[in-house]
Amino acid sequence: MASTPSAVEPGREAPSQPERAAEVTAPLYPELVGAAPPSPAGPIDAAEAATLATPPDIPLPQLSQTMRFSIRQIEFVFRYRRELGETFRMRGVIPDGPVITSHPDHVKSLFTAKPELAPSLTGESPLRPILGPNSVLTAVGPRHMRQRKLLLPPFHGEAIAQYVEMITEAAEREIDRWPVGEAFALAPRMQAITLDVIMAGIFGVEGKPAPGTPEAALRLAIRKTVASSTWPTAQLTELMHVGREEPMGLLKFALGMIDRPTYAVIRERRAATDLEERQDILSLLLQARTEEGEALDDKELRDELLTLVLAGHETTANSLAWAWERLVRNPGPHEALLAAVRGGVGPDGESTEERVEATIVETMRSRPVIPIIGRRVQVPWRLGDYAIEPGTAIAMSILLVHHREDVYPDPFAFRPERFLGRKPGTYDWIPFGGGIRRCLGAALAMAEQRVVLTTMARRLDLEAETPAPERAMHRNVTMIPAKGARVVIAAKH
Ligand code: HEM
Repeated sequence: MASTPSAVEPGREAPSQPERAAEVTAPLYPELVGAAPPSPAGPIDAAEAATLATPPDIPLPQLSQTMRFSIRQIEFVFRYRRELGETFRMRGVIPDGPVITSHPDHVKSLFTAKPELAPSLTGESPLRPILGPNSVLTAVGPRHMRQRKLLLPPFHGEAIAQYVEMITEAAEREIDRWPVGEAFALAPRMQAITLDVIMAGIFGVEGKPAPGTPEAALRLAIRKTVASSTWPTAQLTELMHVGREEPMGLLKFALGMIDRPTYAVIRERRAATDLEERQDILSLLLQARTEEGEALDDKELRDELLTLVLAGHETTANSLAWAWERLVRNPGPHEALLAAVRGGVGPDGESTEERVEATIVETMRSRPVIPIIGRRVQVPWRLGDYAIEPGTAIAMSILLVHHREDVYPDPFAFRPERFLGRKPGTYDWIPFGGGIRRCLGAALAMAEQRVVLTTMARRLDLEAETPAPERAMHRNVTMIPAKGARVVIAAKH
């Protein structure tokens, strides 16, 4: 965290993959990653649009589509890709769409579009009443650019490097507490680590905050709220909030629990006299000024902090849970990881870092925690053979892109070797989205996964509780292992 947010050059972004630790040489298994045939995509004029067909509709009533999509998104999108092709139209809760696509060229057209032509759908997402309309995740247009510039410096690759030691300590502390010989779910344990990491980054708190402090109250409130979001009522609350501005009922109540300690933390930190020496994100945001010299007010700070906590900890935790859910059921990749971490070299002669990286990248390909993202096009848009009307929401199914047979032969197999000596593609490996909305926390999420995966592989012999793979369950906007990735520790080292 060397520079202050106001020091960012306008319009300057981090390189697209700043978070890679391993060196990329040449693919060791070139046959395991291919390419999609080209497909024209992007803004077109009305005359060209008139010559093209519109995408096929899913032949089901709207309510039935909404229910199936919410409950069984995977079966739903795979089925209609099979029946209708790589671009089709769904009618659900999102007004005017979405058209769902899974071609990398279509993805590229949306990621590289001028932001005003294809603003992000997060501006209308169910997260909006929770995070407010002005956070970096929910804002669109100039407001979004301003918030993103303010927040970028503490999330750059070099800034994140400082966290490695703290992440290792959080992981070691957690692992010490886990039982040997008893089945337990990894996801909540991973969440305890990632919550500590994000709280430490934001508030400068090391380990667990001291009891009685506003930080401790906030940590507790967040844990309770996240746990309660598995309730069916929470799912319903989420659906009811699509496109709404203000929280209602239950959600309003839950937010009160989080807001009180958040504002208390902000008040306390505003009064601190050592802000300039502090490295945490809250202290940086308190000192940040826009080019016009404006500071963030309390409400804006609250929205950004909550965004970082909510966007940042459950996603990373579940990605780690998926990594182990896959590893304990795939002996080849599991043994290769242990060999690389414990012996310093993997079965293909790769380094520890290369093997760890390939394992994470393949996990995020086969189990993307956020399975779908969207943009709303403002002008006629071409997606392959079809024309899309202005005002239509276009959803990119990350899940479908990652399971294209032409790009990833044998797509349902878990094969980290795909990525040995190969950098994942910008438009066909998209678990962090892309363009100016690409995940702000990607470097942090990669660092956390690297450290936690390595520490666990070094210290634990893990087994699956049951041989059957865990089903994917949808919670809020995420796709997570239905049983939380249940494992048994056979031995601890
Ligand atoms: C494995 C973990 C994670 C995954 C899979 C993930 C995935 C995503 C995805 C798919 C998007 C939307 C991108 C788009 O529409 O193009 C996103 C946005 C975002 N993520 Fe993450 N994320 C992860 C971890 C984190 C962490 C650790 C943080 C912060 C501490 C974070 C903060 C954000 C923010 C602030 C945005 C909004 C960016 C913008 O709209 O400009 N995420 N993330």
